[in-house]
Amino acid sequence: MYGIINQSIQQLIITEFGEETWLKVVQESKLDTTDFENHEVYDDTYTYALAEAAAKILNTDINTILNRFGEFWIMDISIKKYPALMYGGGTTLKEFMNNLPKFHNRVALSYPNLTAPEFKVIDDGNNLQIEYHSQRDGLTPMMNGMLIGLTKMFNQEKVVVELISNKGENGLTYDLFRMTWS
Ligand code: HEM
Repeated sequence: MYGIINQSIQQLIITEFGEETWLKVVQESKLDTTDFENHEVYDDTYTYALAEAAAKILNTDINTILNRFGEFWIMDISIKKYPALMYGGGTTLKEFMNNLPKFHNRVALSYPNLTAPEFKVIDDGNNLQIEYHSQRDGLTPMMNGMLIGLTKMFNQEKVVVELISNKGENGLTYDLFRMTWS
């Protein structure tokens, strides 16, 4: 994955737990480098090793870290670093979500070697079903955190985000999420 992902994990740990905790995570991860460049592609094992190490040092599990990271990614990275891209995605949460399948096409203009996720969004007029197709495993909690981050971005925190079905369940080749408006 592009270095911006690993840099953002670093930023999350430093912002929330301080520099010393980050240094412990670095040590625990046993990686040969943790000095990541935004636009350089690193093997995915770097990202998973950092998340695993953070979970260990913070006494929690990797899914909690990934979920928190997903929310941080939207609120503290994407909106701040790429406001035009984010606010250009839609003026309401629903509009943004309906445009989500095309979102990474624009991201790919600055990150051409992206292995992007694919999304299909089904709008029944009231609620949304979101298919998350990924070539990677284990990132479902990160996607969950990102969806929660998007509800916060649009001040729609009453919208409920739920994982309905996991990839692999009932022969599904994707994770299925639902956003419900009350
Ligand atoms: C300006 C905003 C965004 C940027 C710059 C961005 C960029 C990226 C990058 C660099 C990756 C790593 C993939 C790789 O390096 O091969 C990624 C992955 C991902 N992004 Fe985005 N993204 C943005 C917004 C979003 C939003 C709004 C969502 C909505 C849910 C999202 C969902 C994901 C997911 C789920 C992955 C994991 C990839 C996988 O499953 O393989 N991203 N994105």
